[in-house]
Amino acid sequence: MEREHLLSLTEEYGSPLYIYDANKIESQFNRMVNAFSSVNKLKINYAVKANTNISILKVLNNLNSGADAVSIQEVKLCLKAGFDVSDIFFTPSGISFKEIEEAVTLGVQVTLDNLTVLKKYGEKFPTIPACIRINPHVMAGGHSKISVGHVDSKFGISISQLDNIKEIVAHTKMVVNGLHMHTGSDISNIDAFVEATEVLLNAVKQFDTIEFVDFGSGFKVPYKKGDNETNIEAMGEIIGKRFNEFCKEYGRDLTLLFEPGKFLVSESGNLMVKVNVVKPTPNITFIGVNSGLNHLIRPMMYDAYHHITNVSNNNETQQAIYSVVGYICENDTFGSNRTLNKVSQGNILRIHNSGAYSFSMASNYNSRYRPAEVMTYKGKDYLIRERETFEDLTRNQIDIEL
Ligand code: LLP
Repeated sequence: MEREHLLSLTEEYGSPLYIYDANKIESQFNRMVNAFSSVNKLKINYAVKANTNISILKVLNNLNSGADAVSIQEVKLCLKAGFDVSDIFFTPSGISFKEIEEAVTLGVQVTLDNLTVLKKYGEKFPTIPACIRINPHVMAGGHSKISVGHVDSKFGISISQLDNIKEIVAHTKMVVNGLHMHTGSDISNIDAFVEATEVLLNAVKQFDTIEFVDFGSGFKVPYKKGDNETNIEAMGEIIGKRFNEFCKEYGRDLTLLFEPGKFLVSESGNLMVKVNVVKPTPNITFIGVNSGLNHLIRPMMYDAYHHITNVSNNNETQQAIYSVVGYICENDTFGSNRTLNKVSQGNILRIHNSGAYSFSMASNYNSRYRPAEVMTYKGKDYLIRERETFEDLTRNQIDIEL
């Protein structure tokens, strides 16, 4: 997005502010569709956990995306945004059976991720097809906290327990219509996807009722100019070809499914923050901004790099090195040793790649409000969430008499 546009929206709606460029979401969605154009039946389910704003969901629904939801609340948000129930896939981990029953009642496609629940489901709903999440034992992901497909991860049913799965399926006569996996997030190396694909396709061969294979997601996006990213076009070619071959072997045209979160929305988003203080210390000049880990926890939680630019000053001839930090009473550093155009109090900084896992992981820590959200799409700007107010902080609290 243009600097002037970002600045004028921040002026209009105040800071901190999330601004999303939905045109970028659309182009990423189309990029993915084109990359896998060789596949007959392709389904892209947006992993809504990345950003559940209803307007963002509507954009994706209009693009014909499906939705990947991991809680019954996410399912309900998708329904509210207008997704058809048949386009919502429920892929939770470790939830109660009651929540699974609720999803079945709503009519969404359910994925099961442990043997106990698989057995219970098979006994209760033998005629309602379910998908099974497999843990392929592949180590992948940009940080240990987001690597979820390895042998010691809590997610999915271990590939080494395939015989147990088959026993339960045979015993309950339940219908398995899909197999699923998701190995992690921020995976730039295609080899990890290819390796996991083979594991999953081998497992598919063990069942004769499969209709779709869900390869999850985890595509890495660039966080700065020249940064490495998953080569989605190359991946589309390699995995698309392998999948088509497999369908012939299997004897049925299966649906190839992906659940991208970051790939679709990360780059669309910006967190706009205002400089409260420029604070030189013996070694470091800190820039203190009116936001913190309560609005963007990724740098602190996963050591994630988020590019930062000073949109108030575009004079590149005067730069300095700063550490950009938050206002929370914790060490909430957005970025250390960053070269920025000279920063002054009151300047507006742009924290890039704040479309995924930013608002959706935001909190009220330090009793701060969560910011407003603005979306720009096809030449129009929309306020899509109001800034919280003091009433939001107290609404659910019960003020007892003491
Ligand atoms: N499918 C499943 C089953 C998932 O658990 C996830 C993400 C996705 C799809 C989407 O993955 P993505 O395309 O966004 O990489 N909060 C972390 C990422 C955690 C992702 C959790 N699951 C972050 O900010 O890096």
